[in-house]
Amino acid sequence: MPQATYHFPNGFLWGTATSSHQVEGQNTNNNWAAWEAEEGRIKFGHKAGLACDWWGGRWKEDFDRAANTGQNAHRLSIEWSRIQPKPDMWDEEALNYYREMIRGLEQRNMTPLVTLHHFSDPLWLVEIGGWENPDVPALFEKYVAKVVEALKDYVTLWVTINEPNVYAYGGYLGGGFPPGKNDLKAAFAVLNNMVRAHALAYRTIHRIQKQARVGIALNYRSFAPARPASPFDRWMAAFLHRNFNLSFIRAISDGTFRFALQKTTIPEAAKTQDYVGINYYSRDLVTFKPLGFNSLFHKLSYPHNADLSDTGFIANIPEGMFEALQWANGFKLPILVTENGVEDADDHLRPRYTIQHIHQVWRAVNFNYPIKGYFHWSLVDNFEWERGWTQRFGLWGLDPQTQVRTRRTSVDVYAEICQRNGIAS
Ligand code: NOJ
Repeated sequence: MPQATYHFPNGFLWGTATSSHQVEGQNTNNNWAAWEAEEGRIKFGHKAGLACDWWGGRWKEDFDRAANTGQNAHRLSIEWSRIQPKPDMWDEEALNYYREMIRGLEQRNMTPLVTLHHFSDPLWLVEIGGWENPDVPALFEKYVAKVVEALKDYVTLWVTINEPNVYAYGGYLGGGFPPGKNDLKAAFAVLNNMVRAHALAYRTIHRIQKQARVGIALNYRSFAPARPASPFDRWMAAFLHRNFNLSFIRAISDGTFRFALQKTTIPEAAKTQDYVGINYYSRDLVTFKPLGFNSLFHKLSYPHNADLSDTGFIANIPEGMFEALQWANGFKLPILVTENGVEDADDHLRPRYTIQHIHQVWRAVNFNYPIKGYFHWSLVDNFEWERGWTQRFGLWGLDPQTQVRTRRTSVDVYAEICQRNGIAS
């Protein structure tokens, strides 16, 4: 019988995604290094340490791995604390090193997608109040201008801020990220400042580089009522969808920012994205618990028939990917899947997870949603924030002590998809 292939459009970007603090190692001047030094903050007291040793040069071998297995793109991030180690100091050597890294992608025929902020902040920024401080958008803009000037010959695809929603929930609504606050007012201020920072950065990038394509990477969670017949659960799921998924992206679409019960207008933020970037992992079932906003957010569970990953953290709900893309298509812009993946040390779920989720991307392509690329999280196991090294998201495994990489079956599964530009049935 002839085999069917689920094809993707020509020029589709196939890559993996990484972030500076999670892969570089030797980041000592940011909020996460400080957080890791505090007792009880990270699972088992793990530290990023050398991470994947990219700052020591191992990005070369990892980029080889990606290029040799059919990937034509890579998403990485720039570490603000390296570029601007102090408020009045720019580190040209660090900029040069990133330039070399990105040229390394070019040499391997891989398109770079560069994130300017991926959860980590310079320590000096923390000292002035971090993202709660209304001066931060202007400071961020300066840093962005510096980076874009340095990399503009090699990069046209930019993510300003990775998962602002997760950053705010993680750090300001008790989610285990620094600075460890649980304060709705602070969360509002942080998100508000991130909207303003994004808008400033958007204009600055376009001023420096006409052909730039600028967006954010939004964490989209598919919220569904745990008891579909319950109006309370349904209301709760809709409430979380509005506040977690919609809030930031609405602000950068039409300039109105609403979060929890607060609302403000940020007219300069309207129409400040050129594409919609979606990070999709799984679905949450929501049960209404009248205990206040934050504890409400934590009343989540997974569908009983879901595959659960190693720590029971990620369930396998591929239809949620389609839902996310259908929703993203409502913004009438090109779409990138900026992250998707599963933590699965022994790789018993990842091959199927990957195929099923990419199949949903293909379905969306066939509804003519303008999807331009897919980035798997991640290329190689890396430091998973407050969960330390307990969650393994890599196509390649990593022993952080010896730096030995192991090839999981998923490497070949994903390679075949990238090389065919499609899934074979
Ligand atoms: C979202 C984040 O952007 C990334 O840093 C993280 O490692 C993955 N998802 C997996 O949790």
